Amino acid sequence: MNTNFMGLDESVFPGEYRDCDGAIGARLVVRPFHARQNARQNDQYAGMGFGIELAVGMQILPRLILATRNAHKTAEIRAMLAGEYEVLDMGAFPECPEIQETGVTFLENALLKAEGVSRRVNGWVLSDDSGLEVDALGGSPGVWSSSYGGQEGDHARNNTRLLREMQGIRERSARFCCTMVLAKEGQERAHFSGTVEGRIIESLCGEQGFGYDPLFVPDGYGKTFGELGGDIKNRLSHRARALAKVVAYLTGLPDSP
Ligand code: IMP
Repeated sequence: MNTNFMGLDESVFPGEYRDCDGAIGARLVVRPFHARQNARQNDQYAGMGFGIELAVGMQILPRLILATRNAHKTAEIRAMLAGEYEVLDMGAFPECPEIQETGVTFLENALLKAEGVSRRVNGWVLSDDSGLEVDALGGSPGVWSSSYGGQEGDHARNNTRLLREMQGIRERSARFCCTMVLAKEGQERAHFSGTVEGRIIESLCGEQGFGYDPLFVPDGYGKTFGELGGDIKNRLSHRARALAKVVAYLTGLPDSP
């Protein structure tokens, strides 16, 4: 409740509807209708009545299209950009063919995905190529993280193989890496990377997150990403670090989404 210059109460009843992709805000303002311009200086109640002003604002969020069908990546990126960007992924473009990830680096694969999708889809496209590098395994599984266990996207098999390869190894340092490419009209506009250092533990712990999360303890923590949950992971992950750079870049662009 605010008190205006006439000593009368002005009530503002904010009512806001939001969903994960956009925001519509409505504000109901009830204020003494003294019409400041019309009020006579020496007769402060002159012309006073009560009026209702309904202000409805629509906020259309800028759109980012993720070049991924990995629902976990989409969920993390959407949570990190909540209220700032509308985030779509390839689920919204079923006609867009699968991009073959034939690169041998995160950047090569991220480029293939972002440029490939943005040739077919209008707007800003963001790709994420990511994986786990384990020092004792010479950087494996690296760009092949997704199929390490023999079958693309089979996280249980990937983790089983990782635990097998790490049996008896004491040096367990590792990092998650993420490279993101922003593209428009088939061409890369910029790329960014983020990493998070940590170590591989000896058995699965925690059920949150995805992929190697139940085996990865980030430096400075005593729990895996699988135990820490989204709020913490999304503050310090490889993906969060790359995405912060993407947002900073887009914010300064004249043709930002
Ligand atoms: P991409 O889809 O080719 O980028 O492969 C990503 C793969 O890396 C995933 O399937 C996981 O195996 C692994 N990975 C990437 N990011 C994460 C993460 O945040 N947590 C756990 N595993 C991840």
